[in-house]
Amino acid sequence: RSDGFAEKEKTLAIIKPDGLYDNCTDKIKNAIFDSGFRIVKEMLIQLDEEAAMSFYAEHSSRSFFSSLVKYMTSGPVLIMVLEKENAVADWRALIGPTDASKAKITHPNSIRAMCGLDIQKNCVHGSDSPQSAQREISFFFKEKSSGSAVTEHDEL
Ligand code: PPS
Repeated sequence: RSDGFAEKEKTLAIIKPDGLYDNCTDKIKNAIFDSGFRIVKEMLIQLDEEAAMSFYAEHSSRSFFSSLVKYMTSGPVLIMVLEKENAVADWRALIGPTDASKAKITHPNSIRAMCGLDIQKNCVHGSDSPQSAQREISFFFKEKSSGSAVTEHDEL
């Protein structure tokens, strides 16, 4: 579209259980807004084991899989669809490296450095490609008629 209303790229962000403690959620949301993202959808949910295993299916053969699933079901998570130009890559850059303990040294201004602890408690998730973003967004926010892995909440 040439009228200035072209759809911007979307990505899926999750604030993990450790990111929902204390004032971390506010810090993360401030970083989101300061970096020019719009939160298009948002829902607070408790993942069950089946949903977590399905969401992380591509990692099912990894040694950390059961630990990751247990962690992601240990408390509520905040699922968000973020929108801006270049949202997928920009969100990954903003959250920093997977291992939050390393991020504190190499990417001190990243979200994981700010609020994460280690490779498991790394406070946030971000889609790793536009294809993953599409898949992950529809995992949580499917068309109402077709049903979804989780219950959809109203758009903000
Ligand atoms: S890797 O090693 O490059 O594949 O790691 P990555 O793709 O960044 O990680 C994929 C998701 O698995 C989580 N992860 C772990 N959880 C628990 N323990 C260990 N050791 C571990 N290693 C990786 C990591 O946080 C990623 O989760 P998401 O939700 O995608 O950020």
